[in-house]
Amino acid sequence: HRHLLGIEGLTRPDIDLLLDRSERFVAQNRQLDKKASSLRGRTVINLFFENSTRTRTSFELAGKRLGGDVINMSVSTSSIKKGESLIDTAMTLNAMHPDALVVRHSESGAVHLLAEKVNCSVINAGDGSHEHPTQALLDALTIRRRKGHLEGLEVAICGDVAHSRVARSNIHLLSIMGARVRLVAPPTLLPSGIERMGVEIHHDMERGIAGCDIVMMLRLQTERMRGSFVPSVREYFRYFGLDVDKLQAAKPDALIMHPGPMNRGVEIDSLVADDIDRSLIREQVEMGVAVRMAILDILVSNQTEPWAKNQ
Ligand code: CP
Repeated sequence: HRHLLGIEGLTRPDIDLLLDRSERFVAQNRQLDKKASSLRGRTVINLFFENSTRTRTSFELAGKRLGGDVINMSVSTSSIKKGESLIDTAMTLNAMHPDALVVRHSESGAVHLLAEKVNCSVINAGDGSHEHPTQALLDALTIRRRKGHLEGLEVAICGDVAHSRVARSNIHLLSIMGARVRLVAPPTLLPSGIERMGVEIHHDMERGIAGCDIVMMLRLQTERMRGSFVPSVREYFRYFGLDVDKLQAAKPDALIMHPGPMNRGVEIDSLVADDIDRSLIREQVEMGVAVRMAILDILVSNQTEPWAKNQ
């Protein structure tokens, strides 16, 4: 593979390879000296058309810790503000010979389109409500480290599935790895046809998370609810917010996840989010750097003159 556009299409050995490689970087990141050199001489450009804290920062750290040069394109100060299109912007950057473009965009499929045009590796950092593959990989690494395996686990993904690229990438990944996925959401926040992805559907939180190993909460993405039904926050929290009471339905050792950014009191209560024994939210962020190092290491450091090859 030259690009990472989604989890769909990856195999179990691909995912095992990425997670195993990430483990090496978890150990490296916990040392005082975090620097490696496999990306020396390589350039990574972060091109984010949507806001980000975790993904952009961790790709920057990942590239730098591997010894590469990382540039952050800020959309607010770029010529995108003057009306330059996504493809023109990408082709302009491509002409500067980067080795990888890390792209986040609000349109599903935008990253795929861009990958067909440029000479370098393209890594999807989230495209619309389609996929966010590095999030699913970091979630998988976090789960695997705590539970020892993914196969056979019961994972409940709860909340705004309709607008969630995180949910879609996680459904693909967990299914490939042999975990069972349940979706827990009001009917208005489930995309039509999602049951075809082989998931179990629930509209009641306590029934949906009953006996599960992992409760993965999703952010209510009101910014994507253009003109559609926006639930009242109070009502949403009452029925679909994860709190100590609802969590009792899950297994006693069930772990709590959230990709961030969290809306406390909307989809998750602080007592649950900050539970030091059961909440993996900070660990997910730590794993994010390691997973992105593994992806850059595999996709970028092993390239042989991609520019010449594709001319
Ligand atoms: N989880 C995630 O993608 O967070 P950011 O939007 O902060 O990158």
